[in-house]
Amino acid sequence: MLDMPALREVLHEAYDLAPDPALAARMQSEYARMSRVVSPADWAIHAPYVAAINALKKDRNATILAHNYMTPEIFHGIADVVGDSLQLAIEATRTEADVIVQCGVHFMAETSKILNPAKTVLMPDMAAGCSLADSITAAGVAEMRARYPGAPVVSYVNTTAEVKAASDICCTSSNAVQIIRALDADTIIMTPDQYLAQNVAALVPEKRIVWWEGSCIVHEQYTAQDIRDFRDWNPGTRIIAHPECPPDVVAEADFSGSTKGILDYVSAERPARAMLVTECSMASNISDAHPEVEFIGPCNMCPYMKKITLEKVLWSLHTMTTQIEVAPDVADRARLAVQRMIDLSAQKA
Ligand code: 13P
Ligand code: SF4
Repeated sequence: MLDMPALREVLHEAYDLAPDPALAARMQSEYARMSRVVSPADWAIHAPYVAAINALKKDRNATILAHNYMTPEIFHGIADVVGDSLQLAIEATRTEADVIVQCGVHFMAETSKILNPAKTVLMPDMAAGCSLADSITAAGVAEMRARYPGAPVVSYVNTTAEVKAASDICCTSSNAVQIIRALDADTIIMTPDQYLAQNVAALVPEKRIVWWEGSCIVHEQYTAQDIRDFRDWNPGTRIIAHPECPPDVVAEADFSGSTKGILDYVSAERPARAMLVTECSMASNISDAHPEVEFIGPCNMCPYMKKITLEKVLWSLHTMTTQIEVAPDVADRARLAVQRMIDLSAQKA
């Protein structure tokens, strides 16, 4: 676990990190991208960290890959690439930087390392896990294979390297339907997200999909009754749900898609009012680009994603820790599953 008081002492000796309204005022171009959701007072606190991280990134020849669920000051202030899980995996194969800093959760950093064994991949807080990745091991995959002999295993990228290595192919929420349709099998095992599997099964009725009973602690909290109530109280609101939500929640929504799918939908449709049935930062991060849309309604916070902060990213680049390692034999097998997914998605695009 990170020793935050000790970490702060080191950082404050090395950098000038006191709130700085003058610096914040000079960094208006960065602030403009988040001014609808970050107050000027908060920006004065964040600006010294953003400036220090962006300078250190150049010194280290580092790139920051940030998931759509990062806080706005990370998403808009320091990220080189932002996106959903598939976009981040693809960008990890393209980067020419020596160092990748993963602003997201642990399985994303592992995926970057699997795709870039020779690069340094840094995780700002190793405690940033994922309830889905925690729900299954390679032994669980073997159990499913024994239960459904001959059925291919499609594992969500929200899994450990060992689980990916034990799987035939990976998927994300943006390509799961394409991948299931493309597989030459009548019965397909999907791990570990039971709800993603059920949502895909509804769209691909010609296949028999069986699943592991994992779930996302953020999306499983929504209920169909919540959505119906919300629609009654806020008529005309466009309701957009992530496919990690239970199927009856997705059935109540106007649209369901990955975090990139959600962004694309909002950009194309520009609804007057929208409720994003997903993690809280999603609406915050697209808010400034869409001032015409009023984002309303409850959201759920991912406690893992929120472990990543500007302070920890600066620490990570300053100390070059924590470096992700994946055993080469595991990485080689996991890479096959991830690369198959990337290749198949590209063919279908
Ligand atoms: P996507 O960004 O791929 O939609 O995934 C959402 C998620 O929960 C990542 O942890
Ligand atoms: Fe895992 Fe859900 Fe958090 Fe994504 S939002 S990292 S799936 S717990």
